[in-house]
Amino acid sequence: MKCKKGIILAGGTGSRLYPLTISVNKQLMPIYDKPAIYYPLSVLMLAGIDEILIISTPHDIQGMKSLLKDGNHFGLKITYKVQDKPRGLPEAFTLGEEFIDNEPVAMILGDNFFYGHGLSSTLLRAATDVTKANIFLYSVKDPSAYGVAKLNSQGDAMLDVIEKPKTYISPWAVTGLYFFPPDICEKAKNLEPSERGELEITDLIREYIKEDKVDINCFNRGYVWFDVGSPDALLQASNFVEVIQNRQDILISSPEEIAWRMGMIKKTEYIDLIKNMPTSTYRNSLQQTLEQ
Ligand code: G1P
Repeated sequence: MKCKKGIILAGGTGSRLYPLTISVNKQLMPIYDKPAIYYPLSVLMLAGIDEILIISTPHDIQGMKSLLKDGNHFGLKITYKVQDKPRGLPEAFTLGEEFIDNEPVAMILGDNFFYGHGLSSTLLRAATDVTKANIFLYSVKDPSAYGVAKLNSQGDAMLDVIEKPKTYISPWAVTGLYFFPPDICEKAKNLEPSERGELEITDLIREYIKEDKVDINCFNRGYVWFDVGSPDALLQASNFVEVIQNRQDILISSPEEIAWRMGMIKKTEYIDLIKNMPTSTYRNSLQQTLEQ
């Protein structure tokens, strides 16, 4: 069954970015010339997903709404849901049960940044027929801050997954992008909190491993993945976007441009969107896409 729905989990306290996050949500921080949430939003759009649920804190939901509205201008249908306390990633699937409505669903964390050659086709393929959990892995030097996958000797199947392991398992960090079949809501309801008192996405993935229902996609060389939860990562992602955009005269993760190129909005609507923007480098870059 094709995946047409996606959730962006954009809550959290952003404590590692303190004091930046006292009054501004992490997902609204800039990654170079765009709010951070534009990047995961673009990932969902590139997967052909046009129904999106944004989950955020009572304090921050208004900021998300004033940024993205009902999504119509991007050819999307965006709705919102409040998570009153951060109880862990799997809560997205209990809060989002009505939205999911027994269909496959993608979930992406609002602070995740992906870029790479062939990303769009990988995403479109992943969304085509979601009968298993589809997990995206990225090899990092220090995986201890993430969920980490244990793979078989051929490196093509996941045997186990451990949240923030204390001993070395493998370099394969579990990124914050997941596709799940419709039974995700039932599985999320039955989860128990971990020792740190939170529901863990890795426990949910383990349920699919038990049923032999996990597909993995390893992002190798040529891909970039950041979780911009720290000041260093925020700066690194910004620098990365600045270098590529200005060197190649392209835009990375512009929802307007993607909406147009994916046929989610008409060219005339795209031109109107650009016309109505204030003069800015972002507007100039969008204008440029029409001339290229
Ligand atoms: C969460 C997940 C972890 C995953 C990471 C990716 O960690 O629990 O499995 O690897 O996102 O960004 P957190 O950022 O909440 O510590």
